[in-house]
Amino acid sequence: MRGRPLPEEEACGQHEAKHYFNQLRFMYFRYNRTSTSSTTSSGQLRVYTPVFTTTMDVDEARLEKTYSFPKGNADVERLELQHQICVLRFGGLYPEEIEGQVQHLMTQRDSEVLDVGCGSSPIWSTQMAKRFPKVNITGLDLAPLTDGEYPKNFSFVRHDLTKGFPDEYKNRFSILHCRLVCQQFPDPPMLIKGMADCLKPNGLLLLIDGGGQTYGQDKKPVTPFKYDPSRSITENLKNTEGGSWHAGWFAELGRGVRSPTFKPPPELIRQTPLKEIMSQEYLVPYGWEGGGIRNGKKLGDLMMKNAETVYKFSPAILARLNDLPDEIKKALVTKGFQELKGRKMYIHLWYTVGMRSE
Ligand SMILES: C[S@@+](CC[C@H](N)C(=O)[O-])C[C@H]1O[C@@H](n2cnc3c(N)ncnc32)[C@H](O)[C@@H]1O
Repeated sequence: MRGRPLPEEEACGQHEAKHYFNQLRFMYFRYNRTSTSSTTSSGQLRVYTPVFTTTMDVDEARLEKTYSFPKGNADVERLELQHQICVLRFGGLYPEEIEGQVQHLMTQRDSEVLDVGCGSSPIWSTQMAKRFPKVNITGLDLAPLTDGEYPKNFSFVRHDLTKGFPDEYKNRFSILHCRLVCQQFPDPPMLIKGMADCLKPNGLLLLIDGGGQTYGQDKKPVTPFKYDPSRSITENLKNTEGGSWHAGWFAELGRGVRSPTFKPPPELIRQTPLKEIMSQEYLVPYGWEGGGIRNGKKLGDLMMKNAETVYKFSPAILARLNDLPDEIKKALVTKGFQELKGRKMYIHLWYTVGMRSE
């Protein structure tokens, strides 16, 4: 007979612990490595919560090869900013249109949530864990988890998704959340199909990604600057033929990072047996109040801050585009950001929800 559960079993539930003890190759119980507490710069005692952390099939070099944005610790602040933007724009951790379904799923027996590509400082999943303290929430990412305070019902799995999902994830989760991961993933249809297989009947896939286009104040797509090799570089720089530098920069950035098989989330969902139950398009203003958008002013400020960071690391991504002259790449960065500061534009996001039928 088993005795009292080990602390790590309590942290993630007995069923969960059994799974991991049987299946996983490596596990460690993390108390900020050696200590259980430390002192912050303001003198407050910071207590670290144990996190059940596992490392599965990981190819360290893969992240470097396939994911182009800054990784792990280097991107924590920007991902926090992005999370705030999403929460403000969607009206919460998920849109209110699915509140009833989420609440229903979260009160079912053995309900579990998986946040796919959760980030190394997982914000959405830890906030979900706080909101639903009786539900086991797992964050999965290829980048390692950063030190921090994590809820008891949160666990982290380090895994490379290009190797597919672990077998024990099949038919297991009530909700899968995948935000801003698909676009850069080498094979988005494979990722979506894998996620669909991990859902329980009636489970939901919450899929969020950028649409890749820039919108103008009139909420219509803005024509991007496009380099024309039949004209000289000087001519291209002098006359953009109505094309926007910022929209051009954004389009080229997308070309540098986006998988060729990426499609807007509703189309990706349609390639699976999942039923699309909601698809919503959201515009987020850059640096202005967004004309009637809820929380517009705050969103505008956050979005501009985010854009500033992305503009800063974008030259490394544009450098990969061999068909663009260096002068054009430089102009896209400098003129694009300049234009963004003086012109009212939006970024476009998709929020799509797919449901697995019985
Ligand atoms: C833009 S971040 C989004 C993070 C989080 N979903 C959010 O919205 O805050 C994309 C994440 O996907 C992860 N990722 C990229 N390729 C991956 C792979 N092959 N396996 C697992 N995670 C991966 C990255 O490490 C990164 O944390």
